[in-house]
Amino acid sequence: MTTALTMKPLLRVLEGIREPVPPIWLMRQAGRYLPEYRALREKAGSFLDLCFDPKCAAEITVQPIRRFGFDAAILFSDILVVPHALGQRVTFTEGEGPQLDAIEDVTSLRRLRHEINHEQLEPVYEAIGRVKENLPTAVALLGFCGAPWTLATYMIAGRGTIDQRPARLFAYRFPQAFAQLIDLLVEASASYLTRQFVAGVDAVQIFDTWAGILPAGEFHSWCVEPCARIVAAVRNKIPKAKIIGFPRGAGTGLTSYVQAVPVDAIGLDWTLDLAFARDHIQRKRPVQGNLDPLALLAGGGALDRATDAILEAFADGPFVFNLGHGVLPDTPIAHVERLVSRVRGAPAHAS
Ligand code: CP3
Repeated sequence: MTTALTMKPLLRVLEGIREPVPPIWLMRQAGRYLPEYRALREKAGSFLDLCFDPKCAAEITVQPIRRFGFDAAILFSDILVVPHALGQRVTFTEGEGPQLDAIEDVTSLRRLRHEINHEQLEPVYEAIGRVKENLPTAVALLGFCGAPWTLATYMIAGRGTIDQRPARLFAYRFPQAFAQLIDLLVEASASYLTRQFVAGVDAVQIFDTWAGILPAGEFHSWCVEPCARIVAAVRNKIPKAKIIGFPRGAGTGLTSYVQAVPVDAIGLDWTLDLAFARDHIQRKRPVQGNLDPLALLAGGGALDRATDAILEAFADGPFVFNLGHGVLPDTPIAHVERLVSRVRGAPAHAS
C-alpha cells in the first residue's frame, strides 16, 4: 500500500503536504537547451514524428531526469496532438512554430471529428508505459493537455498569435459555434487525460497558456468552466486523479479559478505577486511556480535572489518549485544546475 510516507515527493505536495525541501521540475524541461535533445531532434523527421515515436519520446522525457535529477518527468509531446487527433492538419516548421488549417468560419468546424481518435494517440500511451519502466521510483511522471481555450486559439488562428485575436473575435461573432468547439475540446481532453492515467501517469497538468488575455466574463466561460468540467469528467473515471491547473496570466482571476476548478495544485506564472499568491492561493491549494524563465537564463545573483524570494514566500505551505513558464531554448545548462542545488540546499527550507 502507498502511504503518505512512501509517496513520491511531488504527489505528497499534491495531497496538500508541505515538504521541507520542495520538489522541483521545470516546464519544457525536455527541449532545445539540451544537447542530447538536439541530437535526437536532428535525426527525427518532423517534430510531430518525434512526438509519435514512443521510443524517442520516452528517451527525451527521461533526459532531463538523468541530467538534473528532477522530482518529476513530464511526458515529451505537445498540446497540439489533440487537434491532430480531431482531424485538423498540424505541422511544425523550424523557427516558425505550429501551423494548422485555420478554422475561419462556422462551416469549417464541421471538418473536425466528433470524437478524439485514440488510435492516433496510441504512441503517446506507449511512450508513457516505456517511461514508467525507466524512471527512479521517487520521480513522478506527469501527463498533460492544453486547456480548451488555449487549444482553440491555435485551432482558429492556425498558428500562434500575439493577442489571440482570431479566437477572441470568433467567440464574439459566433458564440454558439465557439461553445460547441469548447465542448468538443472538453470531452476530447478529458478522454485523453483519462487514457494517460490508464497508461500510467501519476498526475497531469492542464496548460491554459492564453488564459490571461480574456475579460473576466469570458475568462469564466472559456477557461474556468471548461477546466472544471475536464476535472470532473476525469475524476468520474479516475476518482483519485491528481491534476495541476496552470491558467497563465490569470492574475486576480486566479481567485475564481481556485474556487471553481477543483485541481490539486495551481501553477503560477512569473508575474504573480508572491505575497498575494501566498495569502490568497496557497492558503487554499498547493501552489507551483513561479520563477521568471528569463531569471534562469540570466543566471548569477539575479537567479539566486529570485529563487530565494520564491522559496521564502512559499516555505510554510505545500509547494512545488517550477518556472512561471517554459525553459527558454538558450538557457545555459549550468544555470539549471545552480537552480536545482539552490532549491535543494536552501536554508529557507531546512526543517
Ligand atoms: O514541458 C515539457 O518538457 C514537455 C513537452 C511540451 C512541449 N510543448 C514540447 C515542445 C509541452 C508540455 C508543451 C506544451 C505546449 N505546446 C504549450 C503549452 C505550454 C506553453 O509552452 O505555453 C503550447 C502553447 C504548445 C504549442 C507549441 N509547441 C508551440 C507554440 C511551439 C513552438 C514554439 C517553440 O517553443 O518552438 C511548440 C513546439 C514545441 N513543443 C517544442 C517542444 C520541445 C519545440 C520543437 C522543436 O524542437 O523544434
